[in-house]
Amino acid sequence: MKKDYKLPSLKDARRRDKESSEKLSFSLDSRYEGLGENKRYHIITHGCQANQRDSETMAGLLDAMGYTMGKDEKDADVIIINTCAVRQGAEEKVLGEVGALKRLKNLKPDLIIAIGGCMAQEEESVRTIMEKYRQVDIIFGTHNITSLPKLLYEVTTTRTRRIEVFSKMGEIVESVPVTRFMSHKAWVNIMYGCDKFCSYCIVPYTRGKERSRQKEDIISEVEELVRQGYKEVCLLGQNVNAYGKDLKIDYTFGHLLNDVAKTGIARIRFMTSHPWDFDDTMIEAIRNNPNIMPYIHLPIQSGNTQILKKMNRRYSREEYFALFDKLREELPGFAFTTDIIVGFPNESDEAFEDTLSAVDHCRYDNAFTFIYSKREGTPAAAMEDSIDRKTKEERLRRLNEKVAFYANQNNQRFKDQIVEVLVDGLSKRNSNVYSGYTPENKLVNFTGEDIRTGDLVKVKITEVMSFSLNGVKVD
Ligand code: SAH
Ligand code: SF4
Ligand code: F3S
Repeated sequence: MKKDYKLPSLKDARRRDKESSEKLSFSLDSRYEGLGENKRYHIITHGCQANQRDSETMAGLLDAMGYTMGKDEKDADVIIINTCAVRQGAEEKVLGEVGALKRLKNLKPDLIIAIGGCMAQEEESVRTIMEKYRQVDIIFGTHNITSLPKLLYEVTTTRTRRIEVFSKMGEIVESVPVTRFMSHKAWVNIMYGCDKFCSYCIVPYTRGKERSRQKEDIISEVEELVRQGYKEVCLLGQNVNAYGKDLKIDYTFGHLLNDVAKTGIARIRFMTSHPWDFDDTMIEAIRNNPNIMPYIHLPIQSGNTQILKKMNRRYSREEYFALFDKLREELPGFAFTTDIIVGFPNESDEAFEDTLSAVDHCRYDNAFTFIYSKREGTPAAAMEDSIDRKTKEERLRRLNEKVAFYANQNNQRFKDQIVEVLVDGLSKRNSNVYSGYTPENKLVNFTGEDIRTGDLVKVKITEVMSFSLNGVKVD
């Protein structure tokens, strides 16, 4: 088949330059206004919080074009799948979803199907979609979100497939419309991209170079959210402690935390803090500002120094413990969670035991655990691996058992306590029960009267499980 499109290149995406990021200001071309009149859209989001926030930008752009949000995919003229490429499983799920949409497209030939997100940055995935999934009309990359109006316009007017994916990009676009999906909690990007290049990870390739937003843009976004009645912001970056380094000014994440705290927003969270560069300014800001929540996610990935070295994590087991122990001591009452990968290429039994003993050392409140997934184009993909799948699955099972044990043990301190909960709404599982999170990011399911989404309420904890708490609202 003749190729009439340009594939993204993971090799180009690996390159980094020293140039500072250009800041652009978005404005919608008047040609695209009104294109969506009487039409509805539906967005399916996979992956991390960065993708959640990107989907809100996509919704903002479509709303600005006159589209309205539909109930589900059957109720849509445009379906966007915002994809994740971090593990093979995530990609397979997306391809299954796209396959299933073929039926809908046959029934409704005018339906526009667009694929965005991290899979759109991978040459192999884009090739597969272009060749085998003819129902897809648009593929747009993580650096091309603001091109969505143009791409939709071109498909609507010419009925040809459009693909726009830049491999390498260092821009920051401000003033892009956003339709937030929640009215009490908001994601706020503080930086984009990642320069850490952990050897297993595709994110630095799919998201481009590390680049920080100007502090004034971040703070005025949070101030506006306070005015709109938002109760919580989560400051987003693949590595929030690297904030500001590329701006070459003497202003770091610790300073930003202090300034965001001054806006008076009730709750501040941040994701993700890498053990590298977790400095004292950050610790002080976290300790001194009561509206910064007592919860830290500190990915360890492995408890074995040799594996950490092969992972290019830039810390040893001992260095991680030194930081972790310091945080525990200086931030009493805080909850700590982590990410762990089992089955990294040639991870020995002893290396895995080191990961188990690291969990014993840190007694995490929770851990997100994964079996290593080979990502083409990353250095780890070329490493030899003689560990079979069964062994990896058995390791994951043993690890999860340990994680659940400490999660349960940590939660016991909340039994019979009164905690503050930010109400998310009715629980997904039970329509008489509300759910929300404590400052420590513990999920609470509770009953009570006169409760609305976005309220900060006091709840007495009556029952404690490993991964959630039950309670009753008290006045
Ligand atoms: N920037 C964040 C992580 C983003 S990806 C950080 O550094 O903490 C979220 C998690 O997915 C990672 O922490 C890691 O545990 C996991 N992950 C990333 N690549 C993976 C791979 N190839 N296989 C399995 N898990 C992976
Ligand atoms: Fe991936 Fe490492 Fe960057 Fe996190 S820090 S996004 S794990 S490369
Ligand atoms: Fe997935 Fe991309 Fe986030 S790979 S985890 S959606 S940065």
